[in-house]
Amino acid sequence: MKALAVLYATREGQTRRIAEHIAATLRKRQFMVDVLEVGRDLPADFDLARYGAAVLAASVHFGKHERAMIEFVKTHRRELERLPSAFFSVSLSEAGAEDASATDGRRKRAAANVKAMIGEFVRETGWSPPHMHPVAGALLYRQYGLIVRLAMCLIAKLTGATTDTSRDHEYTDWQALDRFADEIAADVDRRNSKQELRS
Ligand SMILES: Cc1cc2nc3c(=O)[nH]c(=O)nc-3n(C[C@H](O)[C@H](O)[C@H](O)COP(=O)(O)O)c2cc1C
Repeated sequence: MKALAVLYATREGQTRRIAEHIAATLRKRQFMVDVLEVGRDLPADFDLARYGAAVLAASVHFGKHERAMIEFVKTHRRELERLPSAFFSVSLSEAGAEDASATDGRRKRAAANVKAMIGEFVRETGWSPPHMHPVAGALLYRQYGLIVRLAMCLIAKLTGATTDTSRDHEYTDWQALDRFADEIAADVDRRNSKQELRS
């Protein structure tokens, strides 16, 4: 059986944690998984066609997904379209959209933001993944430098997120990620049994 590829692009590390978590869940389902950071880990002879599925994850900064992921998808779109695949879009807007304590208005505005950012990714790359999962990221106040911390605090104030800079805040729903990984595993199993029937 072919290995599965989990490919990610991150700036502050949360998407790496998400990619590793998805990979760990898939390994528990007996798949071999390679986890690779696009723009850093890919060997010169990287060939997506060697894999049985592709799981992509990228974070959002200033309304855009990581440039390295956009370039990766543009380059590999044809192979991606032939494989079972999924895309995980990691942002703080999704944390707002999932925040049960937020007002209806704030949740709707956050959800509209997520939709717009994903729409822009699909337009720019030309790739519509069969599974698209927005994922709540993290607000890592203790890890940001002073300027980013102040800017994020201001944005948090404007959008209704927490301004408590004394600690980091993680919003990722790890159990939801397990369910999404299970869907991917089921997709790959279905594809493999169809191929076995044909051969
Ligand atoms: C400088 C900066 C800009 C950001 N811009 C956005 C944004 O425009 N929209 C959004 O929803 N989240 C934004 N975020 C939140 C990130 O998407 C979130 O922190 C995510 O967990 C980062 O993932 P990473 O650690 O994998 O890079 C921003 C974060 C930082 C530090």
